Parts: sequence; C-alpha cells; structure tokens
Amino acid sequence: MGTVDERGQEGARGEVIETSATEIEPLEPGDGVGGPIVLFFILGLVASLILGWVVFPKLLYSQKKQPIDFNHALHNGLVDEGCESCHFFREDGSFSGAPKLAQCIDCHEELQGEDPEEKKFVEEYVVPEREVPWLVYSRQPDCVFFSHAAHVKMDCVTCHGPIGESDHLKIYEENRITGYSRDIWGKNIAGFKKNSWDRMKMDDCSECHRQNNVNQASVQTHRGGCFVCHK
Ligand code: HEC
Ligand code: HEC
Ligand code: HEC
Ligand code: HEC
Ligand code: HEC
Repeated sequence: MGTVDERGQEGARGEVIETSATEIEPLEPGDGVGGPIVLFFILGLVASLILGWVVFPKLLYSQKKQPIDFNHALHNGLVDEGCESCHFFREDGSFSGAPKLAQCIDCHEELQGEDPEEKKFVEEYVVPEREVPWLVYSRQPDCVFFSHAAHVKMDCVTCHGPIGESDHLKIYEENRITGYSRDIWGKNIAGFKKNSWDRMKMDDCSECHRQNNVNQASVQTHRGGCFVCHK
C-alpha cells in the first residue's frame, strides 16, 4: 500500500519520476542493501575512531607556549660545562632543575645578538630581574616525590627524551581536567609507548624500579612501599 502512495505522490511531481527510477532500479537485482549498510558501518567506525583518537585528545589538552623559546643546541656549544652549566646538583645533593637567571646573566647582561627571543628575554626578565616562569614538561603531581640524586647514573634522555639537543622548546600541553603535563600520561591515549620517555606514570616508574630491584628491601621493612614515591 505504501508504495502505491509514494508512486502517486512522485507521479504528481511529474518529470522527477524518470530520474529517480533509473537511479534506484539497478540496485535492486544485485546485492540489495548489504553494500550500503557495510559502508555506513565503516563510515561510522571511522568517524568514531577519528573522534576518539584525534578530536578527543585535541580537546583534552590545551596548548601553551613557553614564556620564551630556548635553543639548547646553540647554548651547549657556548657553555663550558655542558648540561651542568645550567642543570646541576647543589652542595646538599639537590638538583637545580630549571635554570635561574643566575645561569644566564653573565652572558645576557647585554644583548648577544639580534634574535627577537633574546630581546624579549633581556627586556622582560633580565633587566627587571624577574625569573622566567618556565613550564616543566615532566612536572609530577604534588603528592609524588622524585629526586634526581637517586637517578644520577641514568642518562637524561632515558626519561626526558632529546630535549637537551633540541633547537626549540616544544609546545607545552596541559590536560584540561587534571592540569598536568601531557608528558606524564603520554602522547598516545591508548598507552602505547615507543620510547622510554614517552610517558612517566606510576607504572613507568615502577617498571624500571622492578627491573633494577629498587626498594625490595625497604618494602619488607615497612619503610618503603608507597611512601618511597609518595609524600
Ligand atoms: C645555557 C643553559 C642550559 C644548558 C647548557 C642546558 N639547558 Fe636544559 N634547559 C635550559 C632551559 C632555560 C630550559 C627550560 C626550562 C624547562 O623547560 O623546564 C631547559 C630545559 C631542559 C629540560 C626540560 C625539563 C622539563 O621537563 O621541562 C631538559 C630535559 C633539559 N633541559 C636537558 C638538558 C640537557 C640534557 C643538557 C645538556 C646536553 C642541557 N639541558 C643543557 C637551559 C639549559
Ligand atoms: C656562555 C654564554 C651564554 C649563557 C650562559 C647563556 N646564553 Fe643565551 N645566548 C648566548 C649567545 C652568544 C646567544 C646567541 C645570540 C645570537 O647570535 O643571536 C644566545 C642566545 C639566546 C637566545 C636567543 C636564541 C634562542 O635560544 O632562542 C635566548 C632566548 C637565550 N640566549 C636565553 C638564555 C637563557 C634563558 C639562558 C640561561 C638559562 C642563557 N641564554 C644562557 C650566550 C649565552
Ligand atoms: C629517572 C628519570 C629521570 C632522569 C634520568 C632525569 N630526570 Fe629530570 N626529571 C624527571 C622527573 C620525573 C621530573 C619531574 C620532577 C618533579 O615534578 O618533581 C624531572 C624534572 C626535571 C627538570 C625540571 C625540574 C624542576 O624542578 O624545575 C629538569 C630541568 C630536568 N629534569 C633535567 C634533567 C637532566 C639535565 C637530567 C640528566 C642529568 C635528568 N633530568 C635526568 C625524571 C628524570
Ligand atoms: C629508567 C629507570 C627509572 C625510572 C623511569 C624511575 N626510576 Fe626511580 N630509581 C631508579 C633506580 C635504578 C634507583 C636506585 C638508585 C640507587 O639506589 O642508586 C631509583 C631510586 C628511586 C628513589 C629512591 C629510592 C630509595 O629507596 O632510596 C625514588 C624515591 C625514586 N626512584 C622515585 C622515582 C619516581 C617517582 C619515578 C617516576 C616519576 C622514578 N623513580 C622513575 C630507576 C628509575
Ligand atoms: C615508583 C614510584 C611510586 C610508587 C612506589 C607508588 N607510586 Fe603512586 N604514583 C607515582 C607517580 C609518579 C604518580 C603520578 C602519575 C600517575 O598518576 O600515574 C602516582 C600517582 C598515584 C595516585 C594518583 C594520585 C593523583 O593525584 O592522581 C595514587 C592514588 C597512588 N599513586 C597511590 C599509590 C599507592 C597506594 C602506592 C603503594 C601501593 C603507590 N602509589 C606507590 C609513583 C609511585
């Protein structure tokens, strides 16, 4: 009954019938609707994969630029003591972390060149003696205790990747929900890890500790366990 009604309506519109009829008919003798359904399924799957793997991570992380860019490759060639000129251990064994103005001032008291990033650095930070609010890619949540002193025997690259050889500081990505750096949860939302530095979650610390037999004893004596890494 329905088809009769439809035909009647289309018929009333005149010429349209001929074009729509020739379009529909070749489909009927063949495989029927199976093809289009599979196609719609695939399109739907592709759309949700794009949403989940591309759009969602983009929405989840906001991007921030460092206050000024910094060229590691250039500076490594200018300083006397390599990385330690700027990232060193203090007398008490604590790690200096991100450099302070004191590590820059000897050279940047005056402009060294014509790079606009240097001009900005000197005008906005060196002259007013204001520390640069660097964004730390590897920053862990406050409840986590991490000390470089325990990890000195390891190469910086193992945990940080090749930042020390780069000529630009990469964009800092901040998780909109937790406020933490993307380097903790990793580039890949499914958790795949290509390099040792792709991620630094609790499991990543523990994995290396297990491999190196760190703290087996202190867990047994109740001194260690969770409180090795948690304050
Ligand atoms: C002239 C000073 C200077 C020298 C030399 C230097 N750095 Fe840096 N480094 C910086 C500055 C400035 C930053 C920006 C601060 C930041 O990103 O936390 C930085 C950041 C880093 C970071 C990022 C830390 C984080 O998680 O944000 C790593 C890793 C690093 N440097 C490793 C190295 C290594 C390895 C070397 C030697 C090959 C080196 N640096 C030499 C000044 C220096
Ligand atoms: C040993 C001397 C020396 C030290 C120490 C030093 N710089 Fe430089 N810096 C230079 C020279 C030389 C240039 C190159 C200027 C040019 O040719 O444009 C430069 C360039 C720069 C530039 C522009 C190029 C770039 O890296 O994007 C910035 C920004 C900069 N320095 C920041 C810093 C900061 C921040 C520190 C301290 C953590 C620092 N510098 C420590 C000598 C030094
Ligand atoms: C075992 C892994 C590991 C190794 C090896 C390592 N780091 Fe780190 N680094 C971290 C973690 C984790 C943090 C974040 C610490 C925090 O949030 O308290 C960090 C933080 C930093 C920061 C920012 C610190 C701050 O407080 O401002 C710098 C700079 C840095 N590391 C440089 C280096 C350099 C240079 C080396 C090599 C001499 C190195 N790291 C070796 C894991 C490591
Ligand atoms: C690449 C391997 C590796 C990674 C990654 C790593 N560690 Fe370690 N960690 C070690 C080793 C090896 C030691 C023992 C060093 C020693 O005893 O000389 C150690 C020691 C420690 C200690 C001191 C333990 C004690 O009993 O004195 C703490 C705290 C610690 N790590 C925290 C962390 C945290 C937090 C992370 C992750 C953010 C982390 N580590 C990631 C290898 C690693
Ligand atoms: C080897 C170091 C290490 C040990 C040991 C460890 N943790 Fe963690 N934990 C971390 C790091 C690093 C983080 C932050 C990154 C993350 O969320 O995975 C974390 C995060 C957490 C969080 C989430 C906190 C937050 O603010 O997101 C909880 C809860 C936690 N740990 C509980 C524990 C408990 C319970 C134990 C003992 C069974 C333990 N941890 C042992 C390193 C450690």
